[in-house]
Amino acid sequence: MQLVGKCAVVTGASSGMGHAIVERFAREGANVVAVARRKERPEELKASLADAPGKVELFAGDISSAETNNAMIDHCIEVFGGFDILVNNAGVMDDMVGVADAIDEKFDHVMKVNVFGPMCAMRKAVQTFKASGTKGSIINVASVGGMRNVAGAIYCASKAALISMTKNTSFMYWSDGIRCNGIAPGGINTEISASMGMPNMEGYGKVQKMLAMSPAPGSAEDIANTALFLASDQSSYILGDILVVDGGWIS
Ligand SMILES: NC(=O)c1ccc[n+]([C@@H]2O[C@H](COP(=O)([O-])OP(=O)(O)OC[C@H]3O[C@@H](n4cnc5c(N)ncnc54)[C@H](OP(=O)(O)O)[C@@H]3O)[C@@H](O)[C@H]2O)c1
Repeated sequence: MQLVGKCAVVTGASSGMGHAIVERFAREGANVVAVARRKERPEELKASLADAPGKVELFAGDISSAETNNAMIDHCIEVFGGFDILVNNAGVMDDMVGVADAIDEKFDHVMKVNVFGPMCAMRKAVQTFKASGTKGSIINVASVGGMRNVAGAIYCASKAALISMTKNTSFMYWSDGIRCNGIAPGGINTEISASMGMPNMEGYGKVQKMLAMSPAPGSAEDIANTALFLASDQSSYILGDILVVDGGWIS
């Protein structure tokens, strides 16, 4: 077991990758605060992990608010007595539009969830790690969209911003012993398309042509394995990196 004695906060725990990361971390011995707006599925996940070496605690909240991001980390310290690992995984898609059709409200929403929320969580995490002298690990789930722009303009910009903030956070705080890395998934089988609503057909058609060149989709467990690697001491010399997990799609 690679995470015994560690305490983690994982956002987006009610489905897809976040769900799989919570499970993987708890089975590796970590105590995990599982964050999402919906409560039912994290409750089921917690029940299914009753025999795991790590404990799971739920925290219901919207990560587009600073309050949730601060409170979820405080909650981790209150219930588990420590905080070592932050996984900023929660995210939403845009509607696949190019910039000519971009809608202001969509921009605000996607940026709040995909960039502002993780920024607030990283701020609180770094402050907490520095105050306690913890050599913590931050993992941000970005996207190949933030590198190769194969989605809508707003989504790609949000993930490019997250990649930039990941590298900057690593640069700023490596001397404090804090590691910050990212994961850039390709096409992964989850429920993310539900956050898209009705896509813009012109943009969607262009993205589909690129998706047709992608290998078969990966699984949420592929991402959970990568998050485990980045959270564990196995990756102690990896800082400010973005691990692409896409079956070879953009390479
Ligand atoms: N699937 C892919 O192909 C793919 C590819 C590249 C990158 N990604 C990225 O991978 C991450 C995980 O996505 P996924 O594919 O696992 O998607 P998913 O199955 O839709 O899960 C997204 C999670 O984020 C949570 N979430 C969304 N908005 C939230 C908010 N405002 N506050 C709190 N939680 C919120 C959702 O929970 P609630 O709705 O219960 O709040 C859900 O648990 C995202 O950052 C996504 O951009 C996905």
